Amino acid sequence: MIKRHFLRKIFSNVSTFKHQFVKYSLDNVKTHQKELMSRGLPKQKPIDGVKNIILVSSGKGGVGKSTTAVNLSTALKLVYPEKKVGLLDTDIFGPTVPLMMNLHETPFLTDKNLMEPLINYGVKCMSFGFLIEEGSPVIWRGLMVMQALEKLMRQVYWDDIDYLIVDTPPGTGDTHLTLIQNLPINGVVLVTTPQKAALEVTKRGAKMYKKLNIPIIGLVENMSTVICPSCSTNIKVFGSDTEKLVKDINIEILESFPLNESTAEACDKVYKCKAAHVQIDFSINSLRKMSDNRILNATKMNGIEGKTPFLIGVAGGTASGKSTVCKRIMEKLGQVEVDSKQRQVVCISQDSFYRELTPSEIARAEKGQFNFDHPDAFNDTLIKDTLTDILAGKMVQIPIYDYRHHSLKKDEVLTIYPADVVLFEGILVFYFPEVRKLFHMKLFVDTDSDTRLARRVPRDIIERGRDLDQVLNQYMNFVKPAFEEFCSPTKKFADVIIPRGADNHVAIDLIVHHIKDILQGRPRENGVYNTPQSI
Ligand SMILES: Nc1ncnc2c1ncn2[C@@H]1O[C@H](COP(=O)(O)OP(=O)(O)OP(=O)(O)O)[C@@H](O)[C@H]1O
Ligand SMILES: [Mg+2]
Repeated sequence: MIKRHFLRKIFSNVSTFKHQFVKYSLDNVKTHQKELMSRGLPKQKPIDGVKNIILVSSGKGGVGKSTTAVNLSTALKLVYPEKKVGLLDTDIFGPTVPLMMNLHETPFLTDKNLMEPLINYGVKCMSFGFLIEEGSPVIWRGLMVMQALEKLMRQVYWDDIDYLIVDTPPGTGDTHLTLIQNLPINGVVLVTTPQKAALEVTKRGAKMYKKLNIPIIGLVENMSTVICPSCSTNIKVFGSDTEKLVKDINIEILESFPLNESTAEACDKVYKCKAAHVQIDFSINSLRKMSDNRILNATKMNGIEGKTPFLIGVAGGTASGKSTVCKRIMEKLGQVEVDSKQRQVVCISQDSFYRELTPSEIARAEKGQFNFDHPDAFNDTLIKDTLTDILAGKMVQIPIYDYRHHSLKKDEVLTIYPADVVLFEGILVFYFPEVRKLFHMKLFVDTDSDTRLARRVPRDIIERGRDLDQVLNQYMNFVKPAFEEFCSPTKKFADVIIPRGADNHVAIDLIVHHIKDILQGRPRENGVYNTPQSI
């Protein structure tokens, strides 16, 4: 039985679900679907108070996802006691976290109607199991499950969490997609047994995460062997094909974990702190491995938390050599000796922020009659929000632009991890005042217009599949006038103007020296760089 009085408070009331569910006729559903599709993918939004989110996932049921999620979170807390750790159980039909964490109370509500997580072993936990009577089945349709998940994602008062470990149900279904589409996931830990059937679905799951650009932290091979209690022989009950799988999909085994009577017992009875220690060795080793891993750099485990990257804007006309200038700067900065392990320089293109076109605009674009050089072609709000997040040291995900089809790639995003230096290049990066003021340094690549045209024509024909007439028409009608009206006037905002672009080695060397001086020498006040001087 659902604790109705409680649910009513959280979900307004249970009958709302039924009402909404019945109300949809086929037409309604179609209109609703159209409306949803026109809105595009939901925008990922962090959970209030949560810094990093790690999913624990497997296509297969019963392989030890929840066991791993519970151990990972308790281990994180033991190894890094100063960190605040949370555990979110998103399995609506089979929540096991209450049993494993020995938590059985009903959460309190804050005055803002947010559920307060229950705490054990120093880990804040939330599970749908806290909201239903123990042992009672949940017989819900997908829509209701999604609404419950939404509440678990957004209506919990986490307050302040460094690492939120998310236990997921088996499979790669609605729950996983909803989590991925709505939350900025730092990475996923896959769990499998070495059994062929489990490996097969794990592989499918891994492919899904790769396709959706979610970094895979690594694989936990659970129940890898059984140690015979009388003769201590190591028996591989489920075979040994895991190595092949990790090679195939190019991921790392974090740890292999034997089938162990005490683990099963601990989970079946009450998950005692003593039992957590049975697996804690595995977790410590894995965490150490992971701390050398880029993903956990992203989760800011190695002390780079709160870092404000040095943000450089690079503007200039079409084909002026902006990307090559950025590439040179990145190469030269990559060789900085101090902190070389940590040094990370990334470059983002303004092209990722073209807005979605309407069907009629796409038709015009296909005939070369859409002005891609006009400020209106860009989503300047998204640029501002993304750069603001980057400056706050957050991991961000940005769209990928498909030049051939004049659209953003569906289901594909690019993950940008916190870095020391971020270059943002594009024709109009200094045009929008709100964006312009975010840069620590502004460079303008000033290349002669004939040279730019001579570079643009073959690039558009060869790389972007356009024909000569179309390229020239577009240049004369849109590119050239827009450069003169919108791009060229922003030169006055630049700190440094680089004539001849990437060929100007002297200018690039001077700029790189200046950036190195700032990164190595200058103190930051509250994580913020002092305003750079022009050179
Ligand atoms: N290494 C192990 N040795 C012995 N028993 C284990 C081990 N790992 C997990 N178990 C047991 O196997 C059962 C399933 O584990 P768990 O609930 O973690 O799997 P799951 O993948 O989360 O399952 P579901 O798909 O139902 O969510 C539990 O009873 C657990 O105690
Ligand atoms: Mg589970």
